[in-house]
Amino acid sequence: MASKVAILLLALGHLEVAQSLAKPEPGECLAPTYMTRFSAKLFPEILKLEINREVVVFSPFAVHAMLALIYRASEGETLSEVQRVGEFNQHPVFVALDFERLIKFKEHLPSATLDTRPGVFYNRKLGPVNSRYNEFSKFYFDIDTKPVDMDSGRDMSSWLPFWIKRFDISSQMQAILDNTVEFKGVWKHNFDKINTRKSEFHLGSGETINVAMMHNHEVYGLADLPELDATALELPFKNSATSMLILLPNQLDGLANLEQQLAQPEFDLNRIANRLHRQSVTVGLPWFTLDFFCDLGDPLKKLGLSQVFRNSSKVTKLLEQTVRVDKILHRVYINVSELGTVNSNYSGPVYDQSMPANSKEFVANRPFVFAIRTPNSVLLMGHVKVPWIL
Ligand SMILES: *[C@@H]1O[C@H](CO)[C@@H](O)[C@H](O)[C@H]1NC(C)=O
Ligand SMILES: *[C@@H]1O[C@H](CO)[C@@H](O)[C@H](O)[C@H]1NC(C)=O
Ligand SMILES: *[C@@H]1O[C@H](CO)[C@@H](O)[C@H](O)[C@H]1NC(C)=O
Repeated sequence: MASKVAILLLALGHLEVAQSLAKPEPGECLAPTYMTRFSAKLFPEILKLEINREVVVFSPFAVHAMLALIYRASEGETLSEVQRVGEFNQHPVFVALDFERLIKFKEHLPSATLDTRPGVFYNRKLGPVNSRYNEFSKFYFDIDTKPVDMDSGRDMSSWLPFWIKRFDISSQMQAILDNTVEFKGVWKHNFDKINTRKSEFHLGSGETINVAMMHNHEVYGLADLPELDATALELPFKNSATSMLILLPNQLDGLANLEQQLAQPEFDLNRIANRLHRQSVTVGLPWFTLDFFCDLGDPLKKLGLSQVFRNSSKVTKLLEQTVRVDKILHRVYINVSELGTVNSNYSGPVYDQSMPANSKEFVANRPFVFAIRTPNSVLLMGHVKVPWIL
């Protein structure tokens, strides 16, 4: 019975695609609130992974999409668990439609792309993939399911070259999900290279380092957030409904406190974004490059996802037989400079240039949180503790 419903919905899905080929208007594509709830829930758990690396950035959207795939492929208690953790409150096909709509929406944004390289790999010994699932996964998520020979180092290094060097991936494994993400965006208002100056940045430890601070003077959305003891600034990307929201603590050592507030369940980035007021702002933002990778197993287990990782897993529809998920891997890379998050061929800072005076000032010269968002979904979220050191 359930499968008949799914077939019907798939047919509806096709209709939906035909409709969504028309270019969506910015703002039209409002992601459902369960996506925001999921990213808010995951953020504090990811922060706990940070261990000495001082780097945290992840893509709530990409992680959520991997869960939505497992949601479709599970049944029984496993399904209920994925449903709870993913905050999915509707049929897997409707969830898939939400993701598909967002993926299509992003494809229409010429100057801001979330370059995702997702893959579902499974142990070839387990037999063939379930063709219905595979079709679903390709259709809605553009994700391929690949059989790999987990006994063969060569096969593994061709499919998971980055991961086999960093994590213990054994031939006993059954399924590995991986999503590597890079965000590429061009600022709506470029930072002029001649305004990039060597400046001080206050580390959480109290020390000060020299960084390349970009400067700009433009009309931006700015909000004072007294309850977070922080200030928010929105830097839009060109030709897109995508922007970078920066949450800067008012205190030099305010990051930990800010992140504690952000981890509260009632916290909502969209509500913060709604409070931005457009005004003339002199912005200082350091160059930063973040490269973060992690096994999402622990954070997801903390949120209550455990069945899928067990031998008793009821991920029954991915292959022709039941499969256990061994790893959910995630990597994010972002490089922020004058042009945006794409390389701008910049060779070095130039030091003297004065800024207009009569405006608000927002200088990110201490650790801050940032999020890259579409009107209602969070593509990337992380913090910068140590920018590019000069
Ligand atoms: C699954 O069962 C095998 C064989 O009994 C055991 O070696 C392995 O540790 C189990 N794996 C998990 C994740 O429970
Ligand atoms: C990041 O971008 C800057 C400016 O375009 C460039 O100089 C630098 O090499 C890039 N860093 C990496 C690690 O790619
Ligand atoms: C960087 O330089 C190369 C070669 O000069 C050029 O093709 C490319 O467009 C430049 N990139 C940017 C972002 O300016």
